[in-house]
Amino acid sequence: MDKGTVSGIPAWKRGLLVGILGLAAVGAAAGFRGSREEAGGGKVLEADLEETEGSAGKVSEKIREPLEETKKIALTFDDGPHRVYTERLLDGLKERGVKVTFFLLGSNIEGKEEIVKRMSEEGHLIGNHTFYHVDITKLEPEEASAEILDTSRRITDITGQPVEYVRPPFGNWDKELEGDVTMIPIFWTVDTLDWTTGNADQIVQKVVTSVEENDIILMHDSYDSTVQAALRIIDLLQAEGYEFVTADELILE
Ligand code: NI
Repeated sequence: MDKGTVSGIPAWKRGLLVGILGLAAVGAAAGFRGSREEAGGGKVLEADLEETEGSAGKVSEKIREPLEETKKIALTFDDGPHRVYTERLLDGLKERGVKVTFFLLGSNIEGKEEIVKRMSEEGHLIGNHTFYHVDITKLEPEEASAEILDTSRRITDITGQPVEYVRPPFGNWDKELEGDVTMIPIFWTVDTLDWTTGNADQIVQKVVTSVEENDIILMHDSYDSTVQAALRIIDLLQAEGYEFVTADELILE
């Protein structure tokens, strides 16, 4: 595995962190960094807050917020499972105790049943991404239903769990289908476009500079660069107080 991402924070990542914090209010950035770098730094931070209280009470309220709330985000991976990269990703997620969401292609499952089983056993959410990666809105209703139902059946045969969520390829979902197939569509708020680049740094940069609370991030576990980027994103954003949850938690809130 990519050991460099596990321990410590290399200089380039510190640069990124400062970049992210720079987007927030300057006071908030200073307070947040201070609170993490000082052991038992709560008191130091409170002192900082008191100082800003008099001249800018509203600023100090903003400083407290990120420390008290958990900021949730969801990583989602489409088009898998992939024989090599999905397992590599699962290894990294397990090390970090992070759960994500996989939207599987029915046509990709055969021969990779063990990987699907592992996803389920390790607490990840598994959704449906159609059988052949089709635009569901361009099919006859029976074909469209078959795309969804055949995929769900393959997944359920392995996991024993019903499949409740679908990520429609291209983001095109036919609401007329909902009565027939009873799936809840899950879209995304950040498209990493990870498939357009083999460069993990680029993917990391794109996510950490644009991410906000409750974001649903779209990635593909079919690339080495995506796996590397996803694990670095987790390390960076966990350090910023983000909690990684499965996508259902964000759409049901
Ligand atoms: Ni896709």
